[in-house]
Amino acid sequence: MAKDTKFLLLFLLLSSSSSLCFGSEQDIQCPRSVQQSVIDPLGVLKSSWNFGYATDGYICSFTGVQCWQGSENMVLSLLLDNLGLEGPFPQGLQNCTSLNILDLLYNNFSAPIPFSIAQQISYVTSLNLSYNNFSGEIPESMENLAYLNTFNLQHNQLRGQILERFSVLGRLTSFNVADNLLSGPIPTFPQDFSPLYFAGNQDLCGAPLDECPRSQRWTLRRINGESSVGAAVGFVLGFVVAFYFHLYCCERLLPYVFHT
Ligand SMILES: *[C@@H]1O[C@H](CO)[C@@H](O)[C@H](O)[C@H]1NC(C)=O
Ligand SMILES: *[C@@H]1O[C@H](CO)[C@@H](O)[C@H](O)[C@H]1NC(C)=O
Repeated sequence: MAKDTKFLLLFLLLSSSSSLCFGSEQDIQCPRSVQQSVIDPLGVLKSSWNFGYATDGYICSFTGVQCWQGSENMVLSLLLDNLGLEGPFPQGLQNCTSLNILDLLYNNFSAPIPFSIAQQISYVTSLNLSYNNFSGEIPESMENLAYLNTFNLQHNQLRGQILERFSVLGRLTSFNVADNLLSGPIPTFPQDFSPLYFAGNQDLCGAPLDECPRSQRWTLRRINGESSVGAAVGFVLGFVVAFYFHLYCCERLLPYVFHT
């Protein structure tokens, strides 16, 4: 084997093994920006997430960070429950390129869930934002989180409707939105979810809770793009016009009819 070729092989071997050991720079940037973007009054992340020593898989020993393999810096899950964290939804999660589980349970995160969440954590199978202070509506972009098994938003300040389109999330085994301020019809999920997942809201209706009042069922149909409401209104309007026209004509015509 020529010297050059050996050198090239050695070089390739070394560079591939070093990228295996240290994972991607992006996956290291991810917890770094999470640490920078959240408010951490108890200092848990500040003390445990130390970016000073860049050794093999060093971020994998951080509190709440689990990696795909012990020695790689490839973040599999971020389990940040019950750490007293505050502020808006963490930033920079799209740099955790292989993130599977995001758990922010029992913190004090607030402000609306960002619309970009679906781009940031596209491949997540388990998302738990329960017991925080997230407000605003459930972003419609979340219908694109196609791999979700667990989708838990219990006990926040979320309001507005749950879009019918969320029923496309076919892998869901848990969809818990209990204890929020949600209203309107529950999407017609193919799965049988417990009524407890929807309890404690302002005004949710439809299976597995009680049937929606008539007016709301009409709203639902309109949201789903059916024009039955329009057709009904059109029919009534047409009938009224016809009836009025008939009366008017008869009144005008009757005298002539009698004359002749
Ligand atoms: C993602 O990581 C890169 C470095 O690899 C960094 O330049 C970029 O700002 C990061 N993006 C976010 C949103 O944090
Ligand atoms: C949560 O944060 C809000 C401000 O956003 C604050 O008023 C409240 O006291 C915090 N609650 C806890 C339990 O830390």
